[in-house]
Amino acid sequence: MSPAIRMMSMALFIQIFTFFLFTATVSSSPPGGFTVDLFQRRSNSSSSRISNTQPGSSPYADTLFDSSEYFMKLQIGTPPVKIEAILDTGSSRIWTNCLPCGNCFKQSGLVFDPSKSSTYKEKICDGSPCSYETIYEDQSYTKGTIATETVRIQSTSGQPYVMPETTIGCSHNSSVVFRTAASGIVGLNWGSSSLVSQMGEDMLGLMSYCFSGEGTSKLNFGSNAMVSGDGTVAANMFRKKEDPNMYYLNLDAVSVGETRIETLGTPFQALDGNMIIDSGTTYT
Ligand SMILES: *[C@@H]1O[C@H](CO)[C@@H](O)[C@H](O)[C@H]1NC(C)=O
Ligand SMILES: *[C@@H]1O[C@H](CO)[C@@H](O)[C@H](O)[C@H]1NC(C)=O
Repeated sequence: MSPAIRMMSMALFIQIFTFFLFTATVSSSPPGGFTVDLFQRRSNSSSSRISNTQPGSSPYADTLFDSSEYFMKLQIGTPPVKIEAILDTGSSRIWTNCLPCGNCFKQSGLVFDPSKSSTYKEKICDGSPCSYETIYEDQSYTKGTIATETVRIQSTSGQPYVMPETTIGCSHNSSVVFRTAASGIVGLNWGSSSLVSQMGEDMLGLMSYCFSGEGTSKLNFGSNAMVSGDGTVAANMFRKKEDPNMYYLNLDAVSVGETRIETLGTPFQALDGNMIIDSGTTYT
């Protein structure tokens, strides 16, 4: 999903001054699917709060597929509460439905209750809690309060990877177009509030995923996210000035049987992207 209206409170700064070198790796696939493994390398940017992974360990999350969307499992709050949220490379905000919920879509599992978490803290803007509203291109929306909260995912060390004071949206009014069991969305693009950006430079902005049409698979961060070796195919990934938070690829052509159609309007093998990688949307 890509937000049609980017955060109303554009406290978000865009990391124009950070330089990203990146590569996307497209590896050939199980029948009926393909995987795109992204990795981005971030130069010396903003300071990192988090340095809690042991040397050699990397954070990861289990992912699962539910009829139309890929979810990731994470935990929020203290004591930690398990949630499942759509993982979305096309947006940046991390949010979950929260009590009291004036109008929340039906999710499976309990709605997060911030009053029961000792680490939940609303952000204050001009003396009152900061509010946000994000409307996605398919008209799904979330409205609520911006807060900081502890987020945990798994790590290869066996210990949880803990992200204290992660900026999240606590949603009190939400609607999704597709029925989903998830409780919210985890944004994974280059926006400063996305999960991968909030991991800070320890994880080098590295992320990769492998989506399986059934069962669970993994979303990896940090050194464990690097994909290489025989059979690895790489495609250039691009970042565009007009939409610097998105992961762009260039689609040169599509073939159906013997017929090959080159993408109109972009030169062949353009050094620019003409499509975005959006794990939260259902169409291409
Ligand atoms: C990052 O920046 C700091 C301060 O500007 C500098 O001391 C440090 O060496 C830099 N680190 C890298 C990896 O470039
Ligand atoms: C939720 O937001 C929608 C869309 O802006 C609005 O029509 C509705 O009244 C809101 N519901 C509540 C309970 O605030």
